[in-house]
Amino acid sequence: MADTLLDVRNLSTQFSTRGGIVRAVDDVSWDVKEGETVALVGESGCGKSVSALSIMRLVSQPAGEIVGGQVMFKGRDLLTLDEEAMRRVRGREIAMIFQEPMTSLNPVLSIGRQLTEGLEIHMGKTPQQARVRAGELLSMVGISDPERRLPQYPHQFSGGMRQRMMIAMALSCEPSLILADEPTTALDVTIQAQILELMKDLSRRLGVAMLMITHNLGVVARYADRVNVMYAGRIIERGTARELYGTPRHPYTLGLLRSVPRLDEPRRSRLAPIEGQPPDLTRLPAGCAFLPRCAFRVERCATERPPLREIERLEAPARATPARAGEAREPAPSNDVLPHVSACWEAERVGVRDEARR
Ligand SMILES: Nc1ncnc2c1ncn2[C@@H]1O[C@H](COP(=O)(O)OP(=O)(O)O)[C@@H](O)[C@H]1O
Ligand code: SF4
Ligand SMILES: [Mg+2]
Repeated sequence: MADTLLDVRNLSTQFSTRGGIVRAVDDVSWDVKEGETVALVGESGCGKSVSALSIMRLVSQPAGEIVGGQVMFKGRDLLTLDEEAMRRVRGREIAMIFQEPMTSLNPVLSIGRQLTEGLEIHMGKTPQQARVRAGELLSMVGISDPERRLPQYPHQFSGGMRQRMMIAMALSCEPSLILADEPTTALDVTIQAQILELMKDLSRRLGVAMLMITHNLGVVARYADRVNVMYAGRIIERGTARELYGTPRHPYTLGLLRSVPRLDEPRRSRLAPIEGQPPDLTRLPAGCAFLPRCAFRVERCATERPPLREIERLEAPARATPARAGEAREPAPSNDVLPHVSACWEAERVGVRDEARR
């Protein structure tokens, strides 16, 4: 089993607002092994972006503050590094890809210049070497005719090409980890699938680990090895993609599965959104944060907060494999090492995915 690359331990990040303290990330732990693709999934506002920004120490200040935890990366706690060392981590070791490339691309610099700049500054390449490498990077992300493309500007690129360009920029510093925050949400479904496929392929070929952040559980099935489901600033379920699709052990995950289409299955008509709203993060209840929306709730849910705990292993139904029929998929990591966990008092009762959805 691969070594742990990133180990987020008990991370808590808050924002001071006029409405009170927003507990955006609340005592959250998860990890990424070398070369692995891990997903962070949940509805908008559950703390996914703040998690990624906390790792990069880019939480907006002074309102935002990391108030607890450790972010161990290659054995060092990023939260204790000085700003200079942290800049090196951001430039070289961990790259980030955002949802909207236009906010991260400079509209007045050519594509070539934006690629060569980082190569010269961070990778110590000469202008000549950087130019050659920039062309290679464009080819690597599937942009043909680099010689014609390099002098162009971002507005001359389509949305999908801009996202490819972002991936090329992320790869240019040869990072060991990429944090991809909703990298395809702004794109249409066909292009989404192409970009995700590209990212998965590159991460496998280059051995780059990836944290894939998305609100859409439908997209992670084919691309993530393990999945962390977040709700109201906390991880409420974690397991292999296979486990989560086959036997979700939290009512929220079950709700997500019923509410999103999957990119790898034929479109179904019966999608059911999860009723109700996520809780106010300034006033989290004493018990389970999902209670007002939960069909499985019992009395103790109101008073006792369910901890993440290991779920007794059950065989996942054979048909719940996340790959397309007839398509080989690498075996998921063994449960023995990475237990399927859920923060729900009634986890054992959840478990069966709606037959109508299959
Ligand atoms: N700069 C900020 N000031 C105050 N609250 C913030 C700020 N950034 C994020 N939040 C709050 O933190 C919570 C988590 O946000 P975020 O991580 O962006 O969610 P998402 O899962 O959609 O990425 C949300 O309730 C959001 O309103
Ligand atoms: S702990 Fe209770 S309220 Fe929370 S998800 Fe489980 S059953 Fe529902
Ligand atoms: Mg976000």
